[in-house]
Amino acid sequence: MGENSTPDPETQPESTGRPLAERVATRLFYPTSRPREKSLREAVDGQVVLVTGASHGIGKAAAKKIAAAGATVLLVARTLDDLERVAAQIRADGGTAHVYQADLTEMDATAELGAALLAEHGHVDVVINNAGKSIRRPVDESYDRFHDFTRTIDINYLGPVRLLLALLPSMRERRHGHIVNISTWGLRMPPAPRWSAYGASKAAFDVWLRTVATEIAADNVTTTSIYMPLVHTRMSAPTDFTGVPGLTAEEAADLVCHAVVSRPREISPWWTGPVQAWTDLRRGAAQRLMERGFRR
Ligand SMILES: NC(=O)c1ccc[n+]([C@@H]2O[C@H](COP(=O)([O-])OP(=O)(O)OC[C@H]3O[C@@H](n4cnc5c(N)ncnc54)[C@H](OP(=O)(O)O)[C@@H]3O)[C@@H](O)[C@H]2O)c1
Repeated sequence: MGENSTPDPETQPESTGRPLAERVATRLFYPTSRPREKSLREAVDGQVVLVTGASHGIGKAAAKKIAAAGATVLLVARTLDDLERVAAQIRADGGTAHVYQADLTEMDATAELGAALLAEHGHVDVVINNAGKSIRRPVDESYDRFHDFTRTIDINYLGPVRLLLALLPSMRERRHGHIVNISTWGLRMPPAPRWSAYGASKAAFDVWLRTVATEIAADNVTTTSIYMPLVHTRMSAPTDFTGVPGLTAEEAADLVCHAVVSRPREISPWWTGPVQAWTDLRRGAAQRLMERGFRR
């Protein structure tokens, strides 16, 4: 094991250290699927896999697993040192990683990034759209913070659209490609108080991708939307989720690997289907429930 392969506190394999009841609830409510090593290798060996937001959390854990299975991973985020650290860990374990420092809220730079990826690697086989930003804030605290809405829409919607507009022509022309979107379980529930900026921006990209999916399927380019539950990462840390069941970044990355191997249209906790059906049928009741929750 190289010096860079020491255990990474951000990507611990199991939800150890958390109470048993919480771990049991996590298994029950968010059973994860981890593909067999052989299946992952068959799916990604020799492939070019782009991971946005690869410097931390889910993106970092997914990039490491996919690189370990033989893919060339292209790592994107804003913080160069953190990206270099992830790339060094991957290389120390015998993998191949290339680092691209980019701010996906800069639209021209994002278009240039897409062109550079194609120029340097010829094509991209799999895109993991993972970079994102979450804001949990009631609207009365955002009256003077219009940027809460512009920055979430830029990173969670417009940036990924800009990047895919650059990559899609090549994927469609090659009649080969898969796009995995790290969405949120919140989109399968009634709109929850305090999440207006985040929820709207994630919903925008979710609808965009599922719409585009209906057009690109004819060219053998597929998509998976992962309605990810709570994952204990840097992003969720500022909110007090003590006692709330959640996945580790490693477990979330297993779901990403499952998406890459099996290419399902969506991955979502098993109970979100009935919840969404109830929400659609009883929109008024669902909203009243949320209103009562917020007042309490
Ligand atoms: N954690 C959860 O509970 C949860 C639940 C459902 C869905 N998700 C989704 O999962 C994804 C990953 O979240 P996470 O929890 O792993 O968060 P995280 O640990 O904070 O990682 C976010 C990643 O995105 C990158 N990033 C942020 N802004 C960027 C920008 N403008 N340009 C380029 N890269 C940028 C960050 O790197 P830099 O800061 O260096 O740029 C980092 O690598 C997000 O899309 C999030 O919405 C998370």
